[in-house]
Amino acid sequence: MSLDSLIANTIRPDVRSDKSYHVPDASGFVKLDAMENPYQLPEELRRELAGRLAEVALNRYPAAAYGPLKERIRAKLGIPAGYDVLLGNGSDELIAIMAATCAWQDRRAVMLAPVPAFVMFQRSAQVAGMDFVGIPLKADLALDLPAMLAAIERHRPTLIFLAYPNNPTGNLFDTADIEAILRAQGEQGLVVVDEAYEPFAQQSFMPRLPEFANLIVMRTLSKLGLAGIRLGYMSAAPALLEQFEKVRPPYNINVMTQAAAEFALDHVEVLNEQARLLREQRTALSAALAALPGVQVFPSAANFITIRVPDADSVHAKLVSRKILIKNLSKMHSVLANCLRVTVSTPDENAAFLDALKDSLS
Ligand SMILES: Cc1ncc(COP(=O)(O)O)c(C=O)c1O
Repeated sequence: MSLDSLIANTIRPDVRSDKSYHVPDASGFVKLDAMENPYQLPEELRRELAGRLAEVALNRYPAAAYGPLKERIRAKLGIPAGYDVLLGNGSDELIAIMAATCAWQDRRAVMLAPVPAFVMFQRSAQVAGMDFVGIPLKADLALDLPAMLAAIERHRPTLIFLAYPNNPTGNLFDTADIEAILRAQGEQGLVVVDEAYEPFAQQSFMPRLPEFANLIVMRTLSKLGLAGIRLGYMSAAPALLEQFEKVRPPYNINVMTQAAAEFALDHVEVLNEQARLLREQRTALSAALAALPGVQVFPSAANFITIRVPDADSVHAKLVSRKILIKNLSKMHSVLANCLRVTVSTPDENAAFLDALKDSLS
């Protein structure tokens, strides 16, 4: 039997022609490419967590309702009264769940997002069988509201994704623009405000859920310092959340994640303090970058900074040779020509990056 024929006969053509999500090998690098929190939990808490994890019943499925974990999320992370959360294995899974739920099979279903955007929006749309429509950001990286409203009118998207702040640009879209999009969608479509970077932006649509029936707010514990456990959550009107709950795979949050997240949320002040330190570092690093000749710094409300340099490919290659890993955005979209994205890290790692960048620019 020919494996090529087998694959051609079974695997969808769009999947066959696609590549897997690429994660570069970061061993030996100062890793500043994935917006991780560089700080671990303090030693004492890690030991206590180890004791908790040792007690976890690995032989049992997770308790399906995730009651104690959801209770902590609602209480500690600002979910409005009367609203529940749906949990995902990272917010990546929540994006896929939303796409699968809103990808009608007997009519064209569209996902709309400004571009450049977080790549998993388009990927999840494609896998679910939705058409993805991307509306380019303006040169200053703001939303092109007239173009977004025209696209809503024309395509009637069932889902709009807005990352707030946006990845890979780092900026917060204008609140009035997002409100206009929520109103234009009305009862025809949903608007997902993806607040993955909320700990660094400290601005949120979460308290506004009661104002907009078509608003979904999604967040993650990844950027707060728990990227390894994979836990995302989203909230929306209870009747709406109930629909997505039908598509969520049962037991999608494993018992180790559940226990680790409950423990971390009991000590959320530690994570909040780390986020505060990173916000301080963001201010310092932005200022240092802006002082470099030839470097344009875009304003950031996230834990990363997007910059433009005269020759991004050359700077990126030189940084790699110095074992500093950041993201080269220059091929992603024309508005990001010669742009690079760097995660804000510890003072030491930021200094190592700055030193290497100065050398790379010369
Ligand atoms: C805007 C945005 N949303 C969602 C995610 C995915 O986060 P998670 O780790 O929860 O899957 C990311 C990750 O970089 C992101 O930038």
